[in-house]
Amino acid sequence: MSETSLPQPLHDALLDVLGATGLLTDTTDTDPFCTDWRALYHGRCAAVLRPASTEECAKAVALCHAHGVPMVPQGGNTSMVGGATPDTSGAAVVISTTRMNRVHAIDHADLTMTVEAGVTLKAAQDAAAAQGLLLPLSISSEGSADIGGVLATNAGGNNTVRYGNARELALGLEAVLPDGSVLDVMRKLRKDNTGYALRQLLIGAEGTLGIITRAVIQLQPAPRSRETALCAVGGAAQALELFAAFRKQDPSAIHAFEFMSGTSMGLVNTLIDGATLPLEEPAPAYVLVELASPRADDSLRTLMETVLGEALESGLVTDAVLAESESQRQALWVLREEHAEAQKRAGASVKNDVSVPLAAIPALIAQATEACEALVPGLRVAPFGHIGDGNIHFNLVQPEGADPKAFLAQDHAIMDAVADIVRGLGGSFSAEHGVGQLKAYMMPAWRGGAELETMRRIKAAIDPANLMNPGKIFPAA
Ligand code: FAD
Ligand code: MLT
Ligand code: ZN
Repeated sequence: MSETSLPQPLHDALLDVLGATGLLTDTTDTDPFCTDWRALYHGRCAAVLRPASTEECAKAVALCHAHGVPMVPQGGNTSMVGGATPDTSGAAVVISTTRMNRVHAIDHADLTMTVEAGVTLKAAQDAAAAQGLLLPLSISSEGSADIGGVLATNAGGNNTVRYGNARELALGLEAVLPDGSVLDVMRKLRKDNTGYALRQLLIGAEGTLGIITRAVIQLQPAPRSRETALCAVGGAAQALELFAAFRKQDPSAIHAFEFMSGTSMGLVNTLIDGATLPLEEPAPAYVLVELASPRADDSLRTLMETVLGEALESGLVTDAVLAESESQRQALWVLREEHAEAQKRAGASVKNDVSVPLAAIPALIAQATEACEALVPGLRVAPFGHIGDGNIHFNLVQPEGADPKAFLAQDHAIMDAVADIVRGLGGSFSAEHGVGQLKAYMMPAWRGGAELETMRRIKAAIDPANLMNPGKIFPAA
């Protein structure tokens, strides 16, 4: 039986535009769209709209706009900050992009891909790889996260150290604005100084300014040689020294440089099937370094062996293993990609996705560890992340056996303590996951004054009725 709180005329008009497959109103169908990956938020919605094209999306948005119905854009629903979850009022509709999932074109002359928003990042990477090209953005959620979500959050990830965030990769964009009009800036130009770069306004706006429907993404030639190593180190300071050693030799060869604390790696080792640390002894911390090049020679192996040889000799690295095959390489990546999942299995966690200047990372970890341990004795300090970008996921896992709800009740105290330290070190309280609803309360303290006011004015100009993803980024008035 169908349950809906949509006004009947709107329901009928949406059904006309989207068909039965494109309009979900039964709560058994809509519930999965109303909870986030971390299960922090449990919202409700009047319906889930699943347009299969830009045209359907534009018509559906225009109808919702005319009826004053709030809209929550959703891609793969992997947000770490509750960005794609509706509130509990049940007034909003979720607009899911998963049916807009076609790769339109791959252009070998311009090295671009034209793609719909609902193509998963993994499917887009595979389509590029099938034509000998590389889509140089990789995140652990890439099997579910889609191009629209990745652009809406300006996702970073494992290759940001070499190619930048999603923002740097998008040459063109198409989006449905809150009134249903279509903004088409699907150009594939590297140079185009013709007024405001409107695509960049939509990128990182977390669905508050419109729904991204298509994009033109820059590609690269696929690497023809790759070297991957897992290294045991004493801590973040040693990891940064190792990063500097590689960078000094050839910064363009570094495709990934990831840091993992011993505590977080311990959780992966014990809670993830098939994840086995291929080193003799557990270490205080680990680095996963990947070098890649479009050249097919063995210069990367020489580079890897030279830098690691010297680091092992000086004691900077205490142990290391190099992947000798593609399957060994993938096994090493499992040891990096499963940290979020392992932490989820270990109970509740408080996540601080922060960035600081590289040199401040050891101080961040030391000071934040002390502050958090003082707040909640017994919590597990499990930082990891994209150290080459200055981005550490300073995540805290509940004490073993503790009540998850009691631990999460202290999330603001913990987040604020870490944020104070981050501020003192000149950093940001959200490096790559965005603000969503989890961190909206922090915006006035961090982005107050003219910065937040300018954001509010842009929002009011494009979405005067505040219908597009309300309650995200901006704190309640
Ligand atoms: P959703 O979760 O569906 O939405 C995210 C936000 O974007 C919401 O505000 C939503 O309203 C908006 N949105 C979604 N689609 C659209 C659209 N078409 N138009 C406009 N707005 C839209 N993030 C990183 O940056 N780097 C990482 O390394 C990383 N690792 C992760 C690992 C795991 C295991 C998980 C669960 C998450 C990780 N994330 C990471 C966070 C998350 O995967 C990214 O933010 C991702 O870009 C979200 O994509 P999505 O399609 O799932 O978006
Ligand atoms: C990652 O890089 O794996 C994440 O962004 C996950 C996290 O913060 O838990
Ligand atoms: Zn990350």
